[in-house]
Amino acid sequence: MVVEKDALLEMVHLKDYRESKFFIDKTELCFDLGDAFTVVTSKLHIRRNPKTAACMTSPLVLDGSLDLDLVSISINAIPLSETAYMVEEGRLVILKPSEQFVLQTVVNIKPQDNTALIGLYRSREMFCSQCEAEGFRHITYYLDRPDVMSKFFTKIIADKKKYPVMLSNGNPTSYVELGDGTHSITWHDPFPKPSYLFALVAGKLSCVEDRFVTLSGRGVLLQIYVEEKDLGKCDHAMSSLKKSMEWDETNYGREYDLDIFMIVAVDDFNMGAMENKGLNIFNTSAVLADPKITTDASFQNIEAIVAHEYFHNWSGNRVTCRDWFQLSLKEGFTVFRDAQFSADMNSPAVKRIQDVSFLRAHQFTEDAGTMSHSVQPDSYLEINNFYTVTIYEKGAEIVGMLHTLLGAEHFRSATDLYFGRHDGQAVTINDFVRAMEDVSGIDLEQFMLWYKQAGTPVVSVTSEYSENSQRFMLTFQQSCPDSPGQLNKKPLLVPIRLGLLNSNGEPFGLNAVGDHEIIFQLSDKKQSVAFKNISSKPTPALLRGFSAPIKLNYQYSNEELALLAAKDTDEFVRWDACQQLAFRALREPSNILGTDTCSQAKALLTTYEKLLSEENIDPALVGLMLQLPGESRLHDKKNGVDPDAIHRRRESLRTFLAGKLRVKLEAVYHAHKSHQTYKPVSSQIGLRTLKNAVLEYLMYTEVGVELAWQQFKESDNMTDQSFAFRCLVDCSRSGNYARMATEQFECQWKHEALAMNIWFQIQSACVQKNTLARVEKLLKHPLFNIRNPNKVRSVIGSFCSSNLINFHEANGAGYDFLENHIKMLNEINPQIGARLVVPLTRWRQYIAPHSRLMRRALQRLSELPNLSKDISEIVLKSL
Ligand code: BES
Ligand code: ZN
Repeated sequence: MVVEKDALLEMVHLKDYRESKFFIDKTELCFDLGDAFTVVTSKLHIRRNPKTAACMTSPLVLDGSLDLDLVSISINAIPLSETAYMVEEGRLVILKPSEQFVLQTVVNIKPQDNTALIGLYRSREMFCSQCEAEGFRHITYYLDRPDVMSKFFTKIIADKKKYPVMLSNGNPTSYVELGDGTHSITWHDPFPKPSYLFALVAGKLSCVEDRFVTLSGRGVLLQIYVEEKDLGKCDHAMSSLKKSMEWDETNYGREYDLDIFMIVAVDDFNMGAMENKGLNIFNTSAVLADPKITTDASFQNIEAIVAHEYFHNWSGNRVTCRDWFQLSLKEGFTVFRDAQFSADMNSPAVKRIQDVSFLRAHQFTEDAGTMSHSVQPDSYLEINNFYTVTIYEKGAEIVGMLHTLLGAEHFRSATDLYFGRHDGQAVTINDFVRAMEDVSGIDLEQFMLWYKQAGTPVVSVTSEYSENSQRFMLTFQQSCPDSPGQLNKKPLLVPIRLGLLNSNGEPFGLNAVGDHEIIFQLSDKKQSVAFKNISSKPTPALLRGFSAPIKLNYQYSNEELALLAAKDTDEFVRWDACQQLAFRALREPSNILGTDTCSQAKALLTTYEKLLSEENIDPALVGLMLQLPGESRLHDKKNGVDPDAIHRRRESLRTFLAGKLRVKLEAVYHAHKSHQTYKPVSSQIGLRTLKNAVLEYLMYTEVGVELAWQQFKESDNMTDQSFAFRCLVDCSRSGNYARMATEQFECQWKHEALAMNIWFQIQSACVQKNTLARVEKLLKHPLFNIRNPNKVRSVIGSFCSSNLINFHEANGAGYDFLENHIKMLNEINPQIGARLVVPLTRWRQYIAPHSRLMRRALQRLSELPNLSKDISEIVLKSL
């Protein structure tokens, strides 16, 4: 790893954490929103931290940025002389501050020029804000760190016609018509909060309202603000919100604490959504829903995001993070909470399989690459780059293991203790784990390594069976690969949920009380466990429910995998057995497919045949089991990745399976067509999942195109319509139908931005030849806008991360394409640019010429004179 000196100097280290020397007890803000600029007046009631008062002479350094145009500055209402302060690299330094004082600054900012979408910016006709993690410093000078918590009073002044609605955190306290066509409103948030939770919205917005009565009987007004045209698309988000509020009361004893809870939908947003106190701001894609334009996956995603942001009110807002190294304290825990919620609202097995699948595809890959980091990192250059799948998803898995180790009851007592003990505080991951220890009496010292060690642990398991003694022994051996800056890792505490099956798939009793399942706690490098009275050689069902975020190896025979797939009680194990069979089949050379020698493909085929004839099985599960591992999983190797060969092999296997299963598949397809009116409920979603998984195979037979075209024309919902559209676009034999579907889709949905995102995305991910030329054309489409993150993700993101075969074209055109767009985004929106650059950083894994061409693109990016911190951190670490 080569990191330039300049970059190193700006690294932030956990070990350098110091308490703030100053506090801000009260923050009074006034925003005068104008067309040319916005005037931000801030009155900060500042006090020295008594604990650090030893250095009475130290200056006060307020975070700021080059976007702030300082107009005036005073202390205790007396203007400050020019020798009393400095503005340095965007920061404001007050040279000799007293013990306690009121600092007033007035700055001008230009939200209309803010294309990075951090701080205060404009999205279409409205003003909105995004302050996490360090956006507040782009609004005014402040101690922009999460351990400085303050009570906020926010006044907003703006033209009444253009900005009839003006919102901020907390409750509205006073409203004035100013006579000159402007009006003003003041908001007060009684809960002290860090600046990253501040929010402001102003614009022509309409709202849907509802009410919720909390467990203790307090009424809460619920509002969802959207543009008028979208008023009809808020019902799903509203019902998700009410379900979340009730669920958090029942399952965590957490009540909402203000009189109003508001959600605002904005079109231009870097992320999915943000948990600002009392005023959550959402990407429109994470709120608006309508069966005609929203897929099943999006319906479920909206439910999960609404819940996630709402749950932050406790796990994040009431109890917040001391510093950004503790990010997983709020994000990992809240992802765990939203996953529990989604499991309760829908199918727990499907949710678990989706989450594991996502973790393996993204977090395992991240952990194997140059950005590998621990859940509590030691250092970072740009905090925006650390909102990663490791912090989020691995963080959530760690909380899940605590839940497993403590059991549901102790876990709940521990979260009660944590919330009660730290209410109103900014705390650390250690404080969270300490609450778990205090309640359970379990020593979690070794467990803490999960937070500190990066890399995906590998557990290899072997077994020994003795017929004579009727004994079965499992031996576990763990290791964890080295990662950047971390060598020779220590063994972790790994909870492994397991059972043993006989050859009929029936469970053995595992101990004196006859339990069918135990949680084995692996804590040494190597450790064994023996089971008595095992009357025949068993098949172990290991890591049920994916009880730890590890890679587990066990040399199963194909027959054992088939048994697990058909008979285990744990749906994750059943699904995973299919995945393992599929991996084996995908490693088999494709030229033997169809001959007698393709034993792996045949084993998979037999399992699928049984699966398709089984009667009492959740269709959603069958749908998931039929899906082969994604192409990206097959790129997940240290070296020697050949994108073409991988693509061809996967296509051949699908052709083989489709040919053999065709009759069954067709029958299943027709049997699972629903005649009910569309509802995004799991029973229906399961049927659609299976039907569409089957359609995907049928596209490799003669009947596919006709079926897909029928489905495209007849479906009354976006799930079926877009799936059929995708099938036609990706299919080599769909001829005119693909073109017709593309035109009809556009004609039908050109006025619905969210539906058009799907249209862009499916075309950019098309596996057919010449897709890059098509993508270039899409970039010139009147609805494409490089300033809108959703559009960038739908076209550029989709091409570079979902379209592996075309992105990795051997002439390097895909790499150059990405490089050029990263250069543009470097100027416009570095946060989005940094996320897109990731596929290039995996250059080491690929065969020539790919590796050389990918590296060349990165090299050229690194030489760019004004490369943002966001992008340079990722580029430099990868070279
Ligand atoms: N706090 C984050 C939003 C955020 C992320 C702000 C990065 C600034 C930088 C929010 O709670 C979040 O995690 N949102 C997720 C969705 C969630 C369901 C995991 C997102 O936006 O993707
Ligand atoms: Zn979050």
